Amino acid sequence: MTRVSFARITVPATSANIGPGFDVLGLALSLYLTVEVTIYPPGLNNRDSVKLTYEGDGAETMCLIPEKNLVTKTALYVLSCFGRDFPKPIAIHIKNPIPLGRGLGSSGSAVVAGVALANFVGDLNLSKERMLDFILQIESHPDNVVAALMGGFVAGYLRNPPRSLNTQPPIGVGSYVRLGWAKEIKAIAIIPQFELATEKARKALPLKYIKEDVIFNLQRLTILTAALSRSPPDAEKIYEAMQDKVHQPYRKHLIPGLPEIIETITPSSHPGLVGVCLSGAGPTILALATHNFDQIAADAQKIFARQSPGIDTVVKLLDIVEDGCECRIEFAEEKL
Ligand code: HSE
Repeated sequence: MTRVSFARITVPATSANIGPGFDVLGLALSLYLTVEVTIYPPGLNNRDSVKLTYEGDGAETMCLIPEKNLVTKTALYVLSCFGRDFPKPIAIHIKNPIPLGRGLGSSGSAVVAGVALANFVGDLNLSKERMLDFILQIESHPDNVVAALMGGFVAGYLRNPPRSLNTQPPIGVGSYVRLGWAKEIKAIAIIPQFELATEKARKALPLKYIKEDVIFNLQRLTILTAALSRSPPDAEKIYEAMQDKVHQPYRKHLIPGLPEIIETITPSSHPGLVGVCLSGAGPTILALATHNFDQIAADAQKIFARQSPGIDTVVKLLDIVEDGCECRIEFAEEKL
């Protein structure tokens, strides 16, 4: 019998932007990326080995080379900032139910998991605030990653544009705050079965904005963050404050059906609905609601199917979760 150390890291999926909060707001959802890590005592066979395995969305094409996989590549970068490497032998198993490239924060959650993995295997004792510096250094939009790390409903920004990665531990990269969330509001994710790269969805955006559109978003953003924290939620106020002129209008051709879903699924047509928006860079459409979830989802799916013939959608009803990334360390006896 040999003693091994084992940890389970969990990171929630997220939705970003939430209408007018482009690159600002993030929401942690009850769907979790899990990384199980086992560090074996040195001196065993395969002493130099890093065994990386993966199950879940995209398993067929997932890269399992530690230097290239997003979770382990991130961990190796953080470890290198402290002059460390993976302890070996080590086995890392990733379980990922978060759909890839759908606007539910799969890559942000992978980066957060990678930093948490480095923190555990390297005994780095980083606080979540310090972990955030590394995360923001890699993932330059704070919205998804702050929610994945901290949980709940959050707003964040970067102080400076990210610098190129080097082995100087980054510090003071950004700032964030937790916002209130009315507990009765849940998230319905209507997930089209195609991937949309964030880079492509960002290329659709203009380089400059007109003043009126910026003011439109700032006014709604302020009201939205306050309205989403109040119970019972004021559906009309939230619905109106979730309108956006900064990213959704420029991305609508990439997500056929989005404008019609936003215009026709309203608090008066669908009691229980409080707002609809594009989740992150899409293509997932996020409906926030307190009840009537099945009807809202079915009608959104119908519109999407009519506007995008041949593209299926999958629906997930998710809670907003208070806890972000967690690392539970266990020790187990195993016969090797
Ligand atoms: N806010 C980003 C975007 C996606 O909409 O392009 C998540 O970081």
